[in-house]
Amino acid sequence: MTVPLTAPTLDDLFSRWERQQAAYVAHRQNRFQVMLDVLDLHCPADLTVLDLACGPGSIADLVLRRFPGARVVAADFDPVLARIARSVLARHDDRATVVETDLVSADWPSALPEERTFDAVLSSTALHWLSPGQLLAVYTELARLLPPGAVLLNADHLRFGDDRPALRRLSAEHDAAVQREAFTGGAETWERWWDLAARHPDLASLMPERERRFADRPPQPPASLEFHLAALRNAGFTEVGTVWQYLDDYVVFARR
Ligand SMILES: C[S@@+](CC[C@H](N)C(=O)[O-])C[C@H]1O[C@@H](n2cnc3c(N)ncnc32)[C@H](O)[C@@H]1O
Repeated sequence: MTVPLTAPTLDDLFSRWERQQAAYVAHRQNRFQVMLDVLDLHCPADLTVLDLACGPGSIADLVLRRFPGARVVAADFDPVLARIARSVLARHDDRATVVETDLVSADWPSALPEERTFDAVLSSTALHWLSPGQLLAVYTELARLLPPGAVLLNADHLRFGDDRPALRRLSAEHDAAVQREAFTGGAETWERWWDLAARHPDLASLMPERERRFADRPPQPPASLEFHLAALRNAGFTEVGTVWQYLDDYVVFARR
């Protein structure tokens, strides 16, 4: 993708985000497709969805496009990505609300609109930033927040451990091949996308606050599928499993 000389628009940055993320996440659209199909099969037509760690609003936008009766609350701690999400999701009028909240903080649900009852929580490529303890705490809060029958769908890379070296190796090789092909085809890297975002005047002014908020967030060791399923059961979900897998990339399902 060629880098424009002028500052990109927020819509342009959203499109570029989609392509940039697809360079790192093989079959990203397939993950989303499965999530939307589960919502279609399981939830009422006037569903309310929480997009957890929404980034610029990728899942929220797909949900609102597919389900005309849906409402979405999109939550993230990044002020830059939340600013893009507010702009992009404004095309759905008042069906979308964007809130800023830190999933590491115990009272993160206090940022959610009080009157909302969620039929589903969707998240993608995000919860791996949490430590095992923080992840269990978020799952526990979600189990408390969701009414019986509501579902959680979490799409993420769940790495194979030392006990499955061949699966770990071939998943890593596949990731590297997907990235090589995408970047050769002109997709932007994560770093290049952020350089571009910093050229937008509204976003440039939010960059110092973004740095401050994420100053002390070390990458976490990868959690296994088995850890996620056990944590969800411990948190109080009654039925847990997977609805999609491609190598070490999963969509985990949990029903309250
Ligand atoms: C790679 S992005 C994925 C965004 C979007 N879900 C997608 O699939 O394109 C990871 C997101 O997790 C968010 N995130 C990381 N740690 C967080 C935290 N403690 N609280 C809320 N959001 C967080 C980041 O700000 C970022 O938007």
